[in-house]
Amino acid sequence: MADERVKGEAAEDGRRTFVVVANRLPVDEVVTDTGKEWRRSPGGLVTALHPILAGHRGIWVGWAGAAGPASAPFEVDGIALHPVALSESDIVNYYEGQSNSTIWPLYHDAVETPAFHRHWREAYREVNRRFADATDRVAPPGSAVWVQDYQLQLVPAMLRERRPDLRIGFFLHIPFPPIELFMQLPGREEIIRGLLGADLVGFQTPLGAQNFLHLAHHLLGLRRRGLSVSVEGRSVRAGSFPVSIDVGEMEALVDTIDVRARADEIRSELGRPKTLILGVDRLDYTKGIQHRLNAYRELLSEGRLDTPETVLVQVATPSRERVEHYARLRENVEREVGRINGEFGRVGAPAVHYLHQSYSRSELAALYRAADVMAVTPLRDGMNLVAKEYVAARTDLGGTLVLSEFAGAARELRQAYMCNPHDINSIKDALMRAIEADRSEAAKRMHSMRRYLRDHDGRKWASDFLTTLGAAA
Ligand code: ADP
Ligand code: F6P
Repeated sequence: MADERVKGEAAEDGRRTFVVVANRLPVDEVVTDTGKEWRRSPGGLVTALHPILAGHRGIWVGWAGAAGPASAPFEVDGIALHPVALSESDIVNYYEGQSNSTIWPLYHDAVETPAFHRHWREAYREVNRRFADATDRVAPPGSAVWVQDYQLQLVPAMLRERRPDLRIGFFLHIPFPPIELFMQLPGREEIIRGLLGADLVGFQTPLGAQNFLHLAHHLLGLRRRGLSVSVEGRSVRAGSFPVSIDVGEMEALVDTIDVRARADEIRSELGRPKTLILGVDRLDYTKGIQHRLNAYRELLSEGRLDTPETVLVQVATPSRERVEHYARLRENVEREVGRINGEFGRVGAPAVHYLHQSYSRSELAALYRAADVMAVTPLRDGMNLVAKEYVAARTDLGGTLVLSEFAGAARELRQAYMCNPHDINSIKDALMRAIEADRSEAAKRMHSMRRYLRDHDGRKWASDFLTTLGAAA
């Protein structure tokens, strides 16, 4: 009965012809002392997609972030949200297991060792089926469905089986690995077949698309023609569509009196340091937080930087906290922060301000505006939207960006101070170049990156993808 009602609702509203399917909804259900409330979900996927869907009055199918039955469909910012239920065991096996202990580390160059378990794969298959069923129920006839990210790689094929009338797109927000790594994955053919259910498979970089086409040939014998392969009489296209952010939204935010005043207040609360270095990440081992801390400690101990005139603020949003790799990372990061503060801090003036918290968009904007150097040092990252947010926030052309060569963003933000985060000396040198940069040279670099970003914002990303899919944006 409930299903019928949902289907009816979507079909009644003729304007809703665009469906996003993602592991998470853009808001998470959080239980507080005063009851339940909805909060923005973590991560870059929501940052990229939320403004686009809000503009389209679209439908979003996803999990609400807690174990248990799904709430009834509801609306946020004009988007019709359709929650999918995950049980505690789904969370352990599909989300924490196959998605975040197998696929996530494997696709990120195996910087932590991936674990392989048959019951995780089975849960992944089962939950992907549930997402395909939920989408089948709500997608209006002939609509465009855009499936997102590594948690749902089987959904395109499952959905096509149920609904051949749909245009199906898939976008992978994280790197697609080199063939040698992908070949380690038990069930590798199933994943490639799952993705081939889409009409268009999008990646962050051209290399991701090449790896995928190569695997389709290697594993399934499919011959490519340019960027397409032919599967059972259908053409499936692969391509590179670097994800981006709502630049205008960030610019508007940093232009408010409140955010400007808060940026000044932050500097004052930190004792008006000469140099404020900022890191903003999910607390994830791919983000290179430990490498960044090591580089900072060495610069302090060599006397190339001094406290309290230099301060590092590291914001690290809690993430996937029950997964062992993440729990270990947190211990290591907190130990290193303690060590640096023990050696180089003073009463009332720590060398590192470590904040294991999630912040509002306006607080993040104020931090971006307050920082002299933004340190983005992932060991591997599909894109890294924090780097783009920082550039968008610097309408004053102030500040410098230190950026890892291994972030997708490095292909675009070429005027950043680049580093190889696997080489501590390289992070140290990039930090020093950014700190000591001549102001007019730094402003020129920021200006070029801003010009690029304004021409390549989140709307362009979505419109390029959807136009190629044959579903007008
Ligand atoms: P990922 O998708 O791997 O988390 P990205 O850098 O692409 O990495 O995106 C992270 C997003 O999460 C950005 O939009 C950033 O502003 C947001 N974010 C990161 N840290 C925090 C935090 N502490 N509080 C609120 N939002 C955060
Ligand atoms: O692509 C990055 C990503 O994994 C998104 O799919 C996800 O929404 C975000 O990071 C946050 O991760 P999680 O949903 O596991 O908290």
